Amino acid sequence: MVRILSISDPGTLGAALDVLRRGEPVAMPTETVYGLAADATNPTAITSIYEAKGRPRFNPLIAHVSDIEMAKAHVSFSPLAERLAEAFWPGPLTLVLPLKDTGKIHPLATAGLGTAAVRMPEGFARDLIAGFGQPLAAPSANRSGRVSPTTAQHVADDLGDRIGLILDGGRCRVGVESTILAVTDTHLRLLRPGGVPVDMIEEITGLAVERSTVQPDDDEIIAPGMLTSHYAPDTALRLNATEARPGEAVIRFGGVPLKSEDQTKAVMDLSPSGDLREAAANLFDMLKRADATGASGIAVAPVPGHGLGEAINDRLKRAAAPRD
Ligand code: TXA
Ligand code: MG
Repeated sequence: MVRILSISDPGTLGAALDVLRRGEPVAMPTETVYGLAADATNPTAITSIYEAKGRPRFNPLIAHVSDIEMAKAHVSFSPLAERLAEAFWPGPLTLVLPLKDTGKIHPLATAGLGTAAVRMPEGFARDLIAGFGQPLAAPSANRSGRVSPTTAQHVADDLGDRIGLILDGGRCRVGVESTILAVTDTHLRLLRPGGVPVDMIEEITGLAVERSTVQPDDDEIIAPGMLTSHYAPDTALRLNATEARPGEAVIRFGGVPLKSEDQTKAVMDLSPSGDLREAAANLFDMLKRADATGASGIAVAPVPGHGLGEAINDRLKRAAAPRD
């Protein structure tokens, strides 16, 4: 049976550190989504993450750090990367940076690439990493290809039979994963839209962020361009819906009803007031709840594409992608 411990219980940090020091994984809350964390320097620990998730090993993990000094022990920061870390850390921004020869992040965590993705999370996760003293590799704490968890219960539903400990920090504040940026001396490329809107990054740096045509996802990074079923509920999604069909579950945005909602299984609203932050925080939970209604399909209203809307639309598009 999986243990679930509240992060407000004073014994929880110590109990989690014991598990991590044994080389085992722990599900931890972050401000974005729950992560499945393990020692990023220990190949056995990293392997346990890939196994619990059923994740292909060629898809690298984010190394989470508690401060910039810890990150600098493993990857090289250009002045541009440093500026981004100062502006957005701790927070939902992941930087892909060149590995240092002297770094200790294990190649299993980086899938043998010459770079590592690093991020400093907020709150309890940061305290946990500081207590551990080494980076924690942590993908989202879901089975590969499924919707990311934003509550401890989501993690228990998905991985409860595969891991020993879940740390319960309540609902995640942001609700979508971090923004991933590939950073060189002078250039920024968006690998995944996420919790930090691109316009904020452009404002801070004065640079235009290149949007790559190919975005990484859980199941495919080396051979790009294949939009595999990702962030996917079991029920098929219909995007930009203005009209509901009988038997569907409806996910509205901005308090606007869809036409013909009367014969639907459920009606939810990502944000009745049209607030994209609230919509991001509700997104994965509502997808899971809509999925659980046994509806014939999920009709999702249009969501604006600016700011956090870019990440929301990215996740919706992936969730709606055809699957095998
Ligand atoms: O908010 C988040 O980022 C959450 C929380 C737990 O921190 N983590 C998360 O991890 O979303 P994951 O594994 O689900 O997504 C990480 C993404 C993957 O698409 C992976 O391919 C990409 O980051 N990635 C990792 N290392 C990379 C690298 N060196 N170069 C390019 N992409 C990389
Ligand atoms: Mg993931």
